[in-house]
Amino acid sequence: MLIAQITDLHVGVMGQKVYGLVDTPGFLAAAIAHLNRLNPQPDLVIATGDLVDEGTVAEYQTLADLLAPLRAPLYLALGNHDDRDAFRQIFGDLPYVPAEGVLQYAVEDYPVRLLVLDTLVPGASHGELDADRLAWLEQQLAAQPHRPTVICMHHPPFVTGLPGMDKLFCRGAEPLAALVSQYPAVERILCGHLHRPIQLRWAGTLGSIAPSVAHQVALRFPPARENAFVMEPPAFQLHLWHPQAGLVTHTAYVGNFDAYSYATKAPIAL
Ligand SMILES: [Fe+2]
Repeated sequence: MLIAQITDLHVGVMGQKVYGLVDTPGFLAAAIAHLNRLNPQPDLVIATGDLVDEGTVAEYQTLADLLAPLRAPLYLALGNHDDRDAFRQIFGDLPYVPAEGVLQYAVEDYPVRLLVLDTLVPGASHGELDADRLAWLEQQLAAQPHRPTVICMHHPPFVTGLPGMDKLFCRGAEPLAALVSQYPAVERILCGHLHRPIQLRWAGTLGSIAPSVAHQVALRFPPARENAFVMEPPAFQLHLWHPQAGLVTHTAYVGNFDAYSYATKAPIAL
């Protein structure tokens, strides 16, 4: 099984650059083209939030148009730049989208199960898992305790050493950690929000943040306090469920790169 994770798309309306600088629709189109070229194709693509930049219906329509050519099945999660009502106006008919409330659901059709959480707090940049959202997760984990599982959530429930972002993490993390640590079958916590690839050990599993398919957050440790963005290469991650190795995370940079045979120096197909 191959899971592709894209995150922090921040799609704006066509022709307008996010922060006046970043052509996010163009970046997403390049990522979709790259995903469509993959052989084998991913079994599914999970987008872990900040699907659009300002949470407007027009942006979600642009997003839908950009996602239409994607070949692999797609699952969407919400981030702090998203808006549940506007999202539902365009994507509300997807079979996994609940009619109301938070956007949490399970994907059961593959060897690795996905539990998708909603950490969005309307009007805020930080995330939160309140008692109801946690209770849903608890129920899901208890129902199939030994099944390999990844939990997908936009805001990481852990800090990373990047002070500007750490204050915007997912609140309510202690009970989540207590819950997750009871289930060794949880292979990963797959997050976005940080716009960088970051991994750490957390609650008996691996916390993993994927880079953005558009702009990245600058890697600035203290004494820097402020966030800044940087045009490092856009990327996505491929989480491979391998019979020997278990779940292995690979990072792929978006682009159409030539690969050369060591023996003949001739280009070979990727
Ligand atoms: Fe973001």
